[in-house]
Amino acid sequence: MIRLSGVGKTYDDGTVAVRELDLDVRRGELVCLVGPSGCGKSTTLKMINRLIEPTSGRIEIDGQDITGEDPVRLRRNIGYVIQEVGLFPHQKILANVMTVPLLHGESKATARERALELLELVGLDPARYADRYPHQLSGGQQQRVGVARALAARPPVLLMDEPFGAVDPLVRLRLQDEFLRLQAELGVTVVFVTHDIDEAVRLGDRVAVFAAGGRLAQYDTPARLLGRPADDFVADFVGSTTGLRRLQVIPLDPAHLEPLDGVSVGDLGAAIDIDTTLGEALTVLLRDDRGMVAVKRDAQFVGVLTPNGVHRALRAALAEMATVS
Ligand SMILES: Nc1ncnc2c1ncn2[C@@H]1O[C@H](COP(=O)(O)OP(=O)(O)O)[C@@H](O)[C@H]1O
Ligand SMILES: [Mg+2]
Repeated sequence: MIRLSGVGKTYDDGTVAVRELDLDVRRGELVCLVGPSGCGKSTTLKMINRLIEPTSGRIEIDGQDITGEDPVRLRRNIGYVIQEVGLFPHQKILANVMTVPLLHGESKATARERALELLELVGLDPARYADRYPHQLSGGQQQRVGVARALAARPPVLLMDEPFGAVDPLVRLRLQDEFLRLQAELGVTVVFVTHDIDEAVRLGDRVAVFAAGGRLAQYDTPARLLGRPADDFVADFVGSTTGLRRLQVIPLDPAHLEPLDGVSVGDLGAAIDIDTTLGEALTVLLRDDRGMVAVKRDAQFVGVLTPNGVHRALRAALAEMATVS
């Protein structure tokens, strides 16, 4: 869907922001660009929508070289969400979200309908929020409006630059969850910039780790990134608490569940899906007074997860890491 080949950016003052970058993003994929400040993440993102022109290389979207395309037309198909949100302060929330469809020549009625639908999708009840002004919303709510506005034109591609960076950690977790659900639902292809490795491995189908000087150090799935860092820089960046972080990427495994024998389904309460990560399963387990959680696959119960099972799963994951490092 998006392909960067040998893309580089050297600013006029000689700063090499991005170096010989090869990166491909598949349709419907959510790719995170992560790395310390100044390593070229924002520059890379802005080259995809031509807010910045590369000094070398080639960028294709759907096989089309975009360097020759009219930037204004290009940006119609690329949503852009930044941390500073950039809502129009003197326009109500509904008008803010309607802006982009109106710019694209949609009728007022269509733009309005789409804006209402998107406010709903990002979890802001239109009846309550449509007629408010941006300053009457919390930071997290304003960020949701920013996402709704970017999606209102139904762009196939969405670029996001530290969109949740300014909200507190709990709100951020909620925004991340909501965004994952929304992205899966809409099937939009996303390139998401963050300096937070936890956010990157939580959200990304694949994660690109950048090092100083705009070097791509590793581009991999979260599990492989944490399990097999390509070099010392990546190992350091993903941190020494890898075991715990891996909880967020280790899937549940039927081998770590207890059989259902002697337990009646009625006793089990809430059930989690076998596709859940160990981290999420642990969260549910901690809320359960009986210390066990039913696990299902396609509405079929496959077993129960207990603290013993979590222990076994963690040990297995650590053993696997030891064999690959
Ligand atoms: N307009 C500019 N002119 C010169 N240098 C710039 C400009 N914009 C960014 N840079 C430099 O390019 C490097 C990469 O910046 P940026 O892509 O914003 O990094 P990140 O988003 O990873 O923090 C940094 O060293 C930054 O100072
Ligand atoms: Mg940046």
